[in-house]
Amino acid sequence: MAKYKIALLPGDGTGPEVLREGVKVAEAAARRFGFSIETTQYDFGGDRYLATGEVLPDSAIDELRQYDAIFLGAIGHPDVKPGILEKGILLRVRFELDQYINLRPVKLYPNVETPLKDKGPEDIDFVVVRENSADMYTGIGGVQRKGTPFEVAMQCSVYTRNEVDRCLKYAFEYTRKRNKRNTLALSGKTNVLTYVYDLWERAFHEMGARDYPDIKREYYHVDATTMWMVKNPEWFDVIVTGNMFGDIITDLGAMVQGGMGVAAGGNINPEGVSMFEPIGGSAPKYTGQGVINPMACICAGQMLLEHLGEAEAGAAIEKAVIAFLQSDQYPGMSAKEIKEKGSSTAKIGDAIAEFVATV
Ligand code: IPM
Ligand code: MN
Repeated sequence: MAKYKIALLPGDGTGPEVLREGVKVAEAAARRFGFSIETTQYDFGGDRYLATGEVLPDSAIDELRQYDAIFLGAIGHPDVKPGILEKGILLRVRFELDQYINLRPVKLYPNVETPLKDKGPEDIDFVVVRENSADMYTGIGGVQRKGTPFEVAMQCSVYTRNEVDRCLKYAFEYTRKRNKRNTLALSGKTNVLTYVYDLWERAFHEMGARDYPDIKREYYHVDATTMWMVKNPEWFDVIVTGNMFGDIITDLGAMVQGGMGVAAGGNINPEGVSMFEPIGGSAPKYTGQGVINPMACICAGQMLLEHLGEAEAGAAIEKAVIAFLQSDQYPGMSAKEIKEKGSSTAKIGDAIAEFVATV
């Protein structure tokens, strides 16, 4: 029987509540499909930082390398200055474990409300492959004469050919494997960022023409991408883009698919240890109330199991999520609806876990 070692990073705010349900559902899938999950929990986050001054000990990074995957709740604490925990935990794990892909599916499930008029599940089903290791996130840059009228601030977009190539390779392979419309769109800004996105565009067409003649290539400027994601989301199959643009367009993607309550993502090192997370924040004002929809975290668990090669288990979680959405137990996405209809984070997790055992 396969046994997977999973590190749990519940994090801050409502992170622990949703992660509990993500694990519950993954364990239900493990029981059904005959494998097991051994979890180890780490308490990195705002509370630990406030109590000890420590964000993430160096030893933790080496420990995290020993797992088959990492499952994260949420990072972000209202009493900690923005950036400390995000950089010190989330970005540090991404960088040190070289999780150079951020895979973010944008899929509208039945009965989930999208703000896009006249669009349904048949129109909204694409995936963003966000480069996850470089760009403006490298920290290259600096500040001088801070606080004076002559302050200079600079934070550069930096890409090496290798970083671009390895991301494109993943995106082309993913598009081929997905086998939906076999179309990969590069989202860039070649009309202004004439160094960085010129590099991306050349690399994209070179690799595509050479190694992936079966994959159709498209190019969109990033601003136009946001426009078409809203107007014609059905145009997209897989979108590949740099880290900063990917960050921005996937928040739009999350809204298009019905909100942060359903949006999941994977920070993937195809050759190493990957980390899966609901992409929403820690929603501190709801902490402990049990009113946050755990579906995004449950879907992140689905991605985690698929990444480990448990395709059937992943598929069962997706089916269970859909069955739940079509059942009368589904209260709606928002905290308000969950509260009003007498549902809860745990009840949603229980219901989906039950469907996993039977769908
Ligand atoms: C995300 C988040 C992070 C990012 C923040 C919290 C550092 O917005 O995962 O999209 O910018 O990547
Ligand atoms: Mn983001």
